[in-house]
Amino acid sequence: MKKTLIIDCDPGVDDATGLLLALAAPDLDVLAVTTVGGNVPAAQTARNACILRQIAGREDVPVFMGAEQPLRRAPAGAGEFHGAEGLGDLAPVETRQSYEAETASEALIRLIHSREPKTVTLVVMGPMTNVALALRQDPSLADRIQQIIAMGGARSEGGNITASAEFNIWADPDAAHEVLSTSVPVVLLGLDATHQVRATEERIAAIETIDSDPARTVAAMLRFSQRVERTIVGWDAAPLHDPCTIAYLMRPELFEVCPAHIRIETESDLTRGHTAVEFRVAADSAPHLWATKADAEGVFDLITRTLSDGAIK
Ligand code: BDR
Ligand code: CA
Repeated sequence: MKKTLIIDCDPGVDDATGLLLALAAPDLDVLAVTTVGGNVPAAQTARNACILRQIAGREDVPVFMGAEQPLRRAPAGAGEFHGAEGLGDLAPVETRQSYEAETASEALIRLIHSREPKTVTLVVMGPMTNVALALRQDPSLADRIQQIIAMGGARSEGGNITASAEFNIWADPDAAHEVLSTSVPVVLLGLDATHQVRATEERIAAIETIDSDPARTVAAMLRFSQRVERTIVGWDAAPLHDPCTIAYLMRPELFEVCPAHIRIETESDLTRGHTAVEFRVAADSAPHLWATKADAEGVFDLITRTLSDGAIK
């Protein structure tokens, strides 16, 4: 049976790879893509999602634009890691179809209620603003969402935007706090896991051999990140963050996760967005799962095979 999901994201070069992976996967049923301001402003992330679904040949999947700013902070941005418009140096694409008029949080509520309880997974690749707004507007949603699989947070790796915080959680810590305080089961794939998944030269080259527009776009995103990481951070191979969420949904055995209670620092300026991961909780009462290990070879193999199977032979 197909797994049903909604993807909330802020494309973003790694969001782009995650979206293209999900839209190519035959065993996933993507109900919608909702977008949020994060890496670039919200209107741009919505346009980018429309571009990506067109490249994937999936204009049947609706896109909904979401929050332009975090719950109670000024919008951030990570254009230096994603390019001014969010999709690296991808050549401009004219979209045939725009995003819907309904907002992301309204669409989340409507779509999740349109399905049987606990049958829809929410995959979150950006700041959690839309999800928090939907849960505020309709708290009953918490008992209907099957699980949230989110990219965010950092524990043993330290932060990537400040010493102690990862970008998605730092950008809207209040939203993450609200979401993690509900009864929704949350799997958090933070930097501890995603820094293990590196786009090495060999792995990018394998994707470059696939003859399809989605694969060429993924390869272009990976090459862009490779250049940026080498220049800004000094790492030879860029970590692949957001696609880990889709890989976890498709093949959870590629990751090691530990039951935990995760709380978010919202008050301190110094440690804003820090994820306090408490493992000393009984496994059966722990509300969250925290990822500690990822099988990088397995994740890239999954991406390469899924894109190859979808390519014209
Ligand atoms: C996260 O931050 C964003 O810049 C990426 O798209 C990813 O979601 C990594 O910290
Ligand atoms: Ca993202």
